[in-house]
Amino acid sequence: MSLYLMQIKGWVHKVRDLGKIKFLLIRDGYKIMQAVIKKGESPDYLLDLDIPIESAVEIEGEERETNGKKEILVKDLKILAKAEPLPIDPKKATPKKRFDYRIIDLKLPERQTLFRLRAKVQKFFRDWFMENGFVEINTPKIVIIGAESGAEVFPVLYFGKEAYLTQSPQLYKQMMVSVFPKVFEIAFAYRAEPSRTSRHLAEFTSVDAEMGFIKDEYDVINTIKKMLIDVSEKAMQTKEFEELAKPIDLGFEIITFDEAKEIVKGNPNEDLTTEEERKLGEHFMEEGVSFVAVTKYPWSERPFYTMRLDDNPSYTRGFDIIFRGLEIISGAQREHRYEKLLENIKEKGIDPNKLEYYLMAFKYGMPPHGGFGLGLERYLRQLLGLDDVREVILFYRDIDRLLP
Ligand code: 4AD
Repeated sequence: MSLYLMQIKGWVHKVRDLGKIKFLLIRDGYKIMQAVIKKGESPDYLLDLDIPIESAVEIEGEERETNGKKEILVKDLKILAKAEPLPIDPKKATPKKRFDYRIIDLKLPERQTLFRLRAKVQKFFRDWFMENGFVEINTPKIVIIGAESGAEVFPVLYFGKEAYLTQSPQLYKQMMVSVFPKVFEIAFAYRAEPSRTSRHLAEFTSVDAEMGFIKDEYDVINTIKKMLIDVSEKAMQTKEFEELAKPIDLGFEIITFDEAKEIVKGNPNEDLTTEEERKLGEHFMEEGVSFVAVTKYPWSERPFYTMRLDDNPSYTRGFDIIFRGLEIISGAQREHRYEKLLENIKEKGIDPNKLEYYLMAFKYGMPPHGGFGLGLERYLRQLLGLDDVREVILFYRDIDRLLP
């Protein structure tokens, strides 16, 4: 029995042709609907129409229920764009092929679910910041000095001068806490890291925040704790998450760098290795703790802007957050005292003249402050229990890939 006339627009996901009846699955980016072309009930020409999968179509028909399932009995079908035969089957292709033909890979419904979730998670972060008094900022991505001490910058020819793609909004977000007490930014950041790993991208999405008037780094860590729990809870409540992954525990622990090294029996004179992060994650996950904040990093492992402990300057107020065995955040209380900052810059072998505009902000009322940067792809990888950050970014960039 027909209910009412309706129109659907989408892509032909599958076709099953039984001669007198054709079943079409139509995908609209959110869901999949069944459309039926039936001899005697649909116009005859539709039975002979060639409808290749992935063609973009517009269908008019009657909604009805068959065996308790809703479907649409097709009365008219327009092919808006006829698709050529697909060069790969993304369900069977190797990762390399899938990423070469990413636009076809993205037509898999599970990929759409993932990227709808990514869009929601990005919104949850943004909403969280806005609800908690952070002002969204947009800082330059073409810069003159690398923000994160390392040499991993991409040069850009800028009207005859050498500039770089920014590694992080670090310097600008700090400058901005002399203007607004709380700021955040969600944007791409660039690292010319020649590594081929499942956690490094040359272009990643950095969720950055900076807060002024803090007491110490624990103010920042507690802010992160609230944010991670709130965003993760919301993410896990989405229908997309339900389809993709299993809920995780949201326990949060704070330990020192030296304690972390003791747990994993590692060398306290070097940064936590990937393997040590993994071990640390496993150790805590057994107790329902997914997030481990590792505080009091050695000065030798942190960039110039990190505040050192006044009574023990070989340690800092810098920290990392390990999420189920992978670093997803690094943060710190920053050095806001002009003279001390200058000393630290020189000690790290950086020419202060190159930081003239950054340093200017510290002369005119820079409050005690701190903040953090979260790698969105790493967060999503861990939240979904995936094994590669490349899966959660639309078109990834690494040493081997600049296309598509
Ligand atoms: O540890 P990083 O380099 O720290 C900063 O950028 C500081 N400005 C943050 C701060 O506010 N103190 O990067 C921060 C986070 C990492 O924990 C990681 O999640 C992510 O950014 N990240 C990357 N993600 C993917 N690919 C890469 N190559 C990444 N490099 C950093």
